[in-house]
Amino acid sequence: MTRAAALPAAVRADFPILAHRGGTYLDNAATTHKPRAVLDALTSYYTTTNSNVGRGYHELGRLSTDAYEQARGDVRAALGARHPDEVVFTAGTTDAVNTVADGLGRRLVGPGDAVLVSGLEHNSNLLPWRRLAEETGADLLVAPVDERGRIDVAGFAALLGPRVRLVAISHVSNVLGTVNPVAELVALAHRHGAVVLVDGAQAVPHRPVDVRALDADFYCFSAHKVYGPMGVGVLYGKRELLAELRPVRVGGGTVKGVSATEPVRYVPVPARLEAGTPDVAGAVALAAALAYLGGLGHDAVRVHDEHLVRYAVRRLSELPGVRVVGAPEETPSGIVSFVVDGIHPYDVGSHLDGRGIAVRCGVHCASTFLDRLGLVGTVRASFAVYNTESDVDAAVDALGSVRPGFWTTEHPDTRFL
Ligand code: ALA
Repeated sequence: MTRAAALPAAVRADFPILAHRGGTYLDNAATTHKPRAVLDALTSYYTTTNSNVGRGYHELGRLSTDAYEQARGDVRAALGARHPDEVVFTAGTTDAVNTVADGLGRRLVGPGDAVLVSGLEHNSNLLPWRRLAEETGADLLVAPVDERGRIDVAGFAALLGPRVRLVAISHVSNVLGTVNPVAELVALAHRHGAVVLVDGAQAVPHRPVDVRALDADFYCFSAHKVYGPMGVGVLYGKRELLAELRPVRVGGGTVKGVSATEPVRYVPVPARLEAGTPDVAGAVALAAALAYLGGLGHDAVRVHDEHLVRYAVRRLSELPGVRVVGAPEETPSGIVSFVVDGIHPYDVGSHLDGRGIAVRCGVHCASTFLDRLGLVGTVRASFAVYNTESDVDAAVDALGSVRPGFWTTEHPDTRFL
């Protein structure tokens, strides 16, 4: 038996909520459950170390600062970044993208310039750029996506040019799980002098990420999608570019000195970009989450993802009227989106919920992508390390009895999530 085949059974016991709640949780792309190692890291931090960081001239203050900086170092190592100072703790991916859009976008982009995104972006990697373009007089260009949900590389390249100062793309689509050829897209963008941000929220839980190999200028992800706590995330940035960011928020912990008359002197990054008391426990628990995932082994996780995605695609395809969207089995990353002929995705989601099965349904915060796919929405099953074939079986069995309901009959075109 391979290590990967043994993964789910061994792993489930690490997640207390699975025993507490029962049921079938297939909404991991929205947020994953937390292993005991992460819950213990949170409790342990507050039980043994709690104190503010970078400010307290006392032992607990030093211990807490050490724990926080250790977490930063652990994230650096996990991402293959050159230096811990290239790791900024944020409130999550959304916060990280906004930090770059507001902090650098307004410096780089002006009237007549352009920002390039792809047609499959989550609102969190679309709206900050759209607002930037609207407020600066720049254009927002959208790279085409094919019917399988893949960025059209030639179409992307054709949009690049001297006007494009910034490019923002997802590593993995949150709707279809498509893995984009990020290194290739980054290299193309760099040839035209653009700065590139990669939204890695759906990638980090499923594959090893090496920011230097990708040559991403910025790379961001959220802790809560990778078995860590909510409310904390990471913005990686190349040092020289992070240093260019105007802090969106200023306040405690960001200054060397303030007087009533002299100009404010700010500390270097990353602290300059972390105004106020950071989520120290969250950062420490994120490091524990990354260690947990690393301990399972990225290869084992990959094999597990591939197996479950292929199994789900096969079983769903056997159901009459069910159609898998895109080609998740080509680049498995734990996401399978599907539609049921003649039944609104919300009715499918309610039906599954009534049988103890949690999925996400609707537009997945990516309505412009759903427009491109010509769909009112999809039903999305997304997997984590604790999911098994039985979870897929439970969903497939329940789908056998799904019928049109309120949304199908009363509001067939409604979309709200
Ligand atoms: N971004 C998360 C998702 O796609 C919430 O479900």
